[in-house]
Amino acid sequence: MKQFDTIIRGGTVVTAGDTIQCDVGIKGEKIIALGSNLEDDSAKVIDATGLLVMPGGIDSHVHIDQASGPGIVMADDFDTGTLSALCGGNTTVMPFAFQEKGQSLREAVNDYHEKAKGKSWIDHSFHIIISDPTPQALGQEIPAMVNDGYTSFKVYMTYEGLHLNDREIIDLLASARQHGAFIMVHAEGYDTLRYMIEQLESDGCTKPFGHALSRPQVVEREATHRAISLAEFIDVPMLLVHVSGREPMEQIRWAQQRGLKIFAETCPQYLLLTADDLDKDGMEGAKYICSPPPRDPDSQKACWEGLQQGVFQIFSSDHCPFLIEGTTGKLREGDKTTFQRVANGVPGIETRLPILFSEGVKKGRIDLNQFVALSSTNHAKMYGLYPRKGTIAVGSDADITLWDPDKKVTITQDILHHGCDYTPYEGLEVTGWPVTVLSRGTLVMKNGKVTGKRGHGCYLSRDKSPHATVP
Ligand code: URP
Ligand code: ZN
Ligand code: ZN
Repeated sequence: MKQFDTIIRGGTVVTAGDTIQCDVGIKGEKIIALGSNLEDDSAKVIDATGLLVMPGGIDSHVHIDQASGPGIVMADDFDTGTLSALCGGNTTVMPFAFQEKGQSLREAVNDYHEKAKGKSWIDHSFHIIISDPTPQALGQEIPAMVNDGYTSFKVYMTYEGLHLNDREIIDLLASARQHGAFIMVHAEGYDTLRYMIEQLESDGCTKPFGHALSRPQVVEREATHRAISLAEFIDVPMLLVHVSGREPMEQIRWAQQRGLKIFAETCPQYLLLTADDLDKDGMEGAKYICSPPPRDPDSQKACWEGLQQGVFQIFSSDHCPFLIEGTTGKLREGDKTTFQRVANGVPGIETRLPILFSEGVKKGRIDLNQFVALSSTNHAKMYGLYPRKGTIAVGSDADITLWDPDKKVTITQDILHHGCDYTPYEGLEVTGWPVTVLSRGTLVMKNGKVTGKRGHGCYLSRDKSPHATVP
């Protein structure tokens, strides 16, 4: 009997815990053997000599085809967004299903299933953004959604029309505790932010740099502390998303040192960009507007410390692409717009792994096993996909990226596959690039050429996060 469909031979297998020289045997969609000199004359052999064999990246914070306000269109749908993710070495993405006001959570996820249908190149799963925490949503829908494998929910403390007040967050956390849901929080305080925006507007400050001025670290630090306190008050775990700098990071470390189940994420933009990028000539700075804003060199250093020391378990892209040109993106209202009206977010789904590898592993800031943990394994663990996803082990899905650790690439817009018209990392030289990718045993990229198919990706129902309170 044919034992293996595919053997990956001669590579260095890297997981979050180990780095070993061995072959990987694949049958159907699963890894079925790890060992030396695996043999099967009829199997397809992939020569991984000189390559790292790692679990495919999992990007657990991406926005794809998400409703973003009147006249604003996200630059990626599930076709371009997941293709770009695949070309960046990822095998799973976790976009958000956004609940419009007045909409049920079920309707929200159905909308996003419809958007993804037949389009995904790699596997995907949805978090749900709660913008309308009605008694029905908190009392009946959350338990039903958790039961159906939608086990994580994001809340905004921030944006006009989307933010929840403290009482609403408390009620949501209580529901999460009762039903084992896992809560992700965007922590920037709505009221401090509104105050700053009004001050800047009355001073006539409309340029992109105003975005950075409107959101000093204290705005994020205060909300981070408040969110943590509410999580402690209800006794429920929580993950702080896209943490940008030292001040919020220190709040998170403080909470973790007190034994609270507080987790956190940071993103490439907080390692490589600063507020100065928003201050570039003319409206160029609009390209870098995201929330929280990129800060300063000390914050970049703090984010690295957070990654090195385990304060951050998750490194995601927060890919949120809007065109810079045209009438549907960041500058849809022209050059005379105010920073307040520029759509928030930067693209980065394809560049996340090369940036972390090059700036992290190659520059000696993190080791290979930390790279895998931060970019794949911890995402699977945090969000109820482990060990199906996020590792190279017998019984796991054969989601594998073969990585050339020495390949030098200059990141430019024209080599990327996203639907956006710019990259914030234009001209950045990186060392290390994904060359071959398998998704559930299927070769979807071979030596840099896409060999997969649109529609191959499937939806992943998830278990409860192991951190979630067990009622
Ligand atoms: O600016 C950002 N981060 N946009 C994406 C939406 C969000 O808040 O995550
Ligand atoms: Zn956010
Ligand atoms: Zn986001």
